[in-house]
Amino acid sequence: MTALAIIGGTGLSELDDLVIHGYKQVDTPFGKTSSDILIGDLAGQSVLFLPRHGQNHTIAPHKINYRANIWALHSLGVTSIIAVAAVGGIRDDMAPGVIAVPDQIIDYTYGREHSFFSDDFCSDNHIDFTYPYDQHLRQQLLAAGKQRNISMIDGGTYGATQGPRLETAAEIKRMAQDGCAMVGMTGMPEAGLARELNMAYATCAVMANWAAGLSDGIITMAAIEHTLNLAMKQAKQIVSQLILTQ
Ligand code: HPA
Repeated sequence: MTALAIIGGTGLSELDDLVIHGYKQVDTPFGKTSSDILIGDLAGQSVLFLPRHGQNHTIAPHKINYRANIWALHSLGVTSIIAVAAVGGIRDDMAPGVIAVPDQIIDYTYGREHSFFSDDFCSDNHIDFTYPYDQHLRQQLLAAGKQRNISMIDGGTYGATQGPRLETAAEIKRMAQDGCAMVGMTGMPEAGLARELNMAYATCAVMANWAAGLSDGIITMAAIEHTLNLAMKQAKQIVSQLILTQ
């Protein structure tokens, strides 16, 4: 049974050299997943792939059915998830194009279904989330980057915002004061839900732009897409290397 899944984000909707065996539609108690789940292999190493914004990138961050996605992967036997995410850089070293493996999260989202236990709760369901990312999987990501000669930053706090709009300059200033190194819209509740089901979860975060107010002028999608076109090629190499060496 396949144990590793990749959740792709903006700029990563497929992987090079992936041999596709089929697509699985999974019925979950929480509704529909973002898309059918791709089942495949890379040089013989099996892997599942799910684009979190849907096949044609039509699902906004706050509308993603995170519970269905994580539940479905779990029901297919997945034990480890690599989440690829485009983010805005806040800390000085998080320039556009940089790839980081965050080690902490601050959740600024609201109104999202963020627990499997909302309707059937007991005290055991207060999961520990002191270290939100799986340390071993993080190290595997960093090692994969090293093997491909791609420099990556080890650590940093991921601030999860609601979206779909980008942040104001004042919001980013506050997030910087809070200690956020980067900002994205999908890291939560994805990471928390994976932990609720005891799945290892780590993020490969790709800086798409300087966060609001940290560069001259406004943030354009054209500039983000330009940066992601280049940087996601590296993210794909890192993820492929991790799959091959799992
Ligand atoms: N903010 C939030 N999410 C993002 C950004 C950003 O600046 N860039 C890419 N995803």
